[in-house]
Amino acid sequence: MSGPASRLWGGRFEGTSAEAFDALNASLPVDQRLWREDIRGSRAHARMLGAQGIIGADDAAAIDAGLLAIEAEMAAGVFVFLPGDEDIHTAVERRLTEIAGDAGRRLHTGRSRNDQVITDTLLWIREHGRAQGSALKALAEALLARAAEHLDTLVPGYTHLQRAQPVRLAHHLLAYVWMLCRDHRRLLFAIESAGESPLGSGALAGSGFAIDRDMTAAELGFDRLSPNSMDAVGSRDALVDYLAFAAQLGVHLSRLGAEFVWWSSEEVGFVVLDDAFASGSSMLPQKKNPDAAELARGKSARLSANLQGLLGAAAGLPLAYNKDLQDDKHYVFDAADTIDLLLPAMSGMVATAGFRVDSMSAAAGEGFLAATDLADHLVREGWPFRSAHEAVGALVRACSDRGVGLTEASPEDLRAAGLSGVVLPLLTAEASVEAKDVPGGTARARVVTQLADATARVSAW
Ligand code: ARG
Repeated sequence: MSGPASRLWGGRFEGTSAEAFDALNASLPVDQRLWREDIRGSRAHARMLGAQGIIGADDAAAIDAGLLAIEAEMAAGVFVFLPGDEDIHTAVERRLTEIAGDAGRRLHTGRSRNDQVITDTLLWIREHGRAQGSALKALAEALLARAAEHLDTLVPGYTHLQRAQPVRLAHHLLAYVWMLCRDHRRLLFAIESAGESPLGSGALAGSGFAIDRDMTAAELGFDRLSPNSMDAVGSRDALVDYLAFAAQLGVHLSRLGAEFVWWSSEEVGFVVLDDAFASGSSMLPQKKNPDAAELARGKSARLSANLQGLLGAAAGLPLAYNKDLQDDKHYVFDAADTIDLLLPAMSGMVATAGFRVDSMSAAAGEGFLAATDLADHLVREGWPFRSAHEAVGALVRACSDRGVGLTEASPEDLRAAGLSGVVLPLLTAEASVEAKDVPGGTARARVVTQLADATARVSAW
């Protein structure tokens, strides 16, 4: 139980609060990691209060010194949280008052925890988002490096998990780089979204003091001011933008993970994962499990759940701040932590993966992957595409009944397909990828251009 005096809002209360309520109400376990942002925001606010003559210069100086001392305690890990510290804002102000006395009690002039908490959270997203941009870049660079190595490695491309047409391994890997390029744009958008300073919005209606919002916004590195105090304290759009980035990135990493799980299976055998990114089985000595890839595949659920969670918490809330919103940070931190774990592991897994060029090439040249190329050949000979498609389909059936590939089609197979007398063109995987000489296609020159474009894009991040 905490008594009225130890609480920021104690004045109106006579009774103590129930332990069960305190436990539910406290957000400190989640928001204490905002201590840097909280101190930064408070220093900017106090300096502004001093500059505007709202508090005395001596009080402003005492607050600043006190906040610096608290920052040092936090950084050294010696700050002592007390049971009454409901959240990080309460803890910092309580300690400041212990250090600076009445000056500390002036810090909250013209401010509410409602504008304070969203200010802190936006600062955190901007800071952390920028760091994640670098981790995203490292993964894109790992993929680019592997793509550059494997311009001439051919691998089956799939649809419905059925071998469809051969592609260059570089082309396949670059597909993920383009996904990450879009993720990076979404990340920048979230950082930009978080660029509006809510400080000065008070509890919901702004401030009755002559505060200088531009001054605090500039000092904290915000790009502009929030234009409406109720919107500023009651909305969480920038957090949603961040979580939407995280959720979509999660989907992309999940697909990359799934690809590596499958490629590393004995059945496929296209990749051998490095020991550093695999684990063994406690019971089955022969096992080498693609854990990193599987975790990437699975954690997408968590990232999309975080987006869904915040959307759910914010929906239906009347303006402005409601305590439901206290949970917002849980979703953001969980998403950020998950991405912080995933990106370096995926970069390492990609960088160290052993691609089995022989198995890939053999699979790319096998079976019926050139069926479309044969149909295209017939079209060039004057056949309508639909008729060519039908005839090649029949040839595939005839060959597959005999357990042979297209290149081994006998005169009898050709006759059965209505293709008697047709001279089969060169049906190699190499000829097939080279034939796709369109922008975004698999011809070597096109993939070389694509690789250069993607490299330029990523190096600009
Ligand atoms: N711990 C709160 C949160 O995270 C801070 C804002 C509290 N505001 C209030 N009016 N009780 O949202």
